[in-house]
Amino acid sequence: MATVALKDVTKIFGDGTVAVDNLNLDVGDGEFMVLLGPSGCGKSTVLRMVAGLEDPTAGAILLDGELANDLAPRDRRIAMVFQDFALYPHMTVGDNIGFPLRLSGVESGTRGERVADVASALGIGDVLARRPSQLSGGQRQRVAMGRAIVRRPGLFLMDEPLSNLDSGLRAELRAEISGLTRELGVTTLYVTHDQAEALTMADRVAIMRRGILQDVGTPTQVYGRPATLYVAAFLGAPRMNLLEAQVYVHLDRHIALHMGEQTLYLPWNDIRARAVAHYHGERIVIGMRAEALTPVPMDTDGDVLRGRIRYLEHHGHESLAFLDIGAYAVIVDDVGGTAPEVAETRGLRRLGGLVRRMASRGGDGELVPAGTAAHNGHHNGRPGPGGRNNSGVFSDAGRHHRRPAELAVRLAPYPQVTNGHPLAVAVRMEALHFFDDRGARIDVGWR
Ligand SMILES: Nc1ncnc2c1ncn2[C@@H]1O[C@H](COP(=O)(O)OP(=O)(O)OP(=O)(O)O)[C@@H](O)[C@H]1O
Ligand SMILES: [Mg+2]
Repeated sequence: MATVALKDVTKIFGDGTVAVDNLNLDVGDGEFMVLLGPSGCGKSTVLRMVAGLEDPTAGAILLDGELANDLAPRDRRIAMVFQDFALYPHMTVGDNIGFPLRLSGVESGTRGERVADVASALGIGDVLARRPSQLSGGQRQRVAMGRAIVRRPGLFLMDEPLSNLDSGLRAELRAEISGLTRELGVTTLYVTHDQAEALTMADRVAIMRRGILQDVGTPTQVYGRPATLYVAAFLGAPRMNLLEAQVYVHLDRHIALHMGEQTLYLPWNDIRARAVAHYHGERIVIGMRAEALTPVPMDTDGDVLRGRIRYLEHHGHESLAFLDIGAYAVIVDDVGGTAPEVAETRGLRRLGGLVRRMASRGGDGELVPAGTAAHNGHHNGRPGPGGRNNSGVFSDAGRHHRRPAELAVRLAPYPQVTNGHPLAVAVRMEALHFFDDRGARIDVGWR
């Protein structure tokens, strides 16, 4: 049995870097908790503090309910697997896995049995006599896992253990790792910057940004009801569409949500209507995932957005259309690293349009393809168009946080449409997400 509790944990490094900022997190016995966030958000620092490799600057770390701040790493019954795990090259696979047992004086017969058990559970039972150099990347990763679990730790810490592997193998090992840790009933704290990995593996996901915990919940909770704009932007592929909207309350009818050339109407019987009405005359962000949008005939009435297809992406099982709808999208920083594959292809495809748009805007470089982090650090000193305030998501110290929206819509595979084609999509109003200009969710009550 093993539980972890972090109470008001802060880590400030010698140079003043605040790596972890007042973190509170409980990991239950046997739970598979994933720490998710972009590079530099403090994930590894959290793991290292739990392992005892780093001291918290403030706060308490409890293992099994006992204060563990001063406990040496070897007294914590913890095993850790790193991204750049190192196997002993001169030892066989079997000896590598059995090494921790040998260190703790387990006699060779018992050792052999436990190594064989672990190896067969990991599907590497037939390579025990080989050396690491004679293994594939995936097999090596399994050996590192085997070496970590052979001591039957109470708590398993894994820091991006799959990030060096190709995507096929990663998917395979994902399932294996989560299956194995559950079978063993071992509490696991697993770090990744890959949102798909987090959503598929976790019992619960804790999402961090710049040292601060943004949200924690089951994959269904954090995906279905993200606590902040950041979490909304970070989770899911394609990314959630995030549109800037002006709220206008018509007391006798509905709440109008004006988004450039488009308007949607939130009826008063929507449970969030009163909360959204508080923003009368102000800008909010409307989040709509592709699954909230359904293509319909152009003359359809009701909750419909209309636009033209700017470009299409074919993914085999589905196609994505990106619509120019004459509205503005809100750009969220720090979500770049989550889908490099998408960013690359999309970036290439958009390069032509991007260059054209930059040229027409004076080439100040603020427009960047979604999914790249390249806009981070661009401070051009211009206020956001129509900016009401100088903080929040609409403009931040003069940095642009909006660009013409390209609404991501799911279509059947290889649809009979091309770029420039007009398209209408029905919007499932109850599936919309609302965020204020600070990026906090506008909602009634809490989950
Ligand atoms: N020893 C150190 N001294 C100073 N700053 C540090 C130290 N170790 C980490 N940092 C900083 O603390 C922040 C958090 O680092 P951490 O390694 O926890 O991030 P991470 O979320 O694991 O990132 P990645 O996904 O890139 O591994 C970063 O800004 C990093 O530069
Ligand atoms: Mg790290």
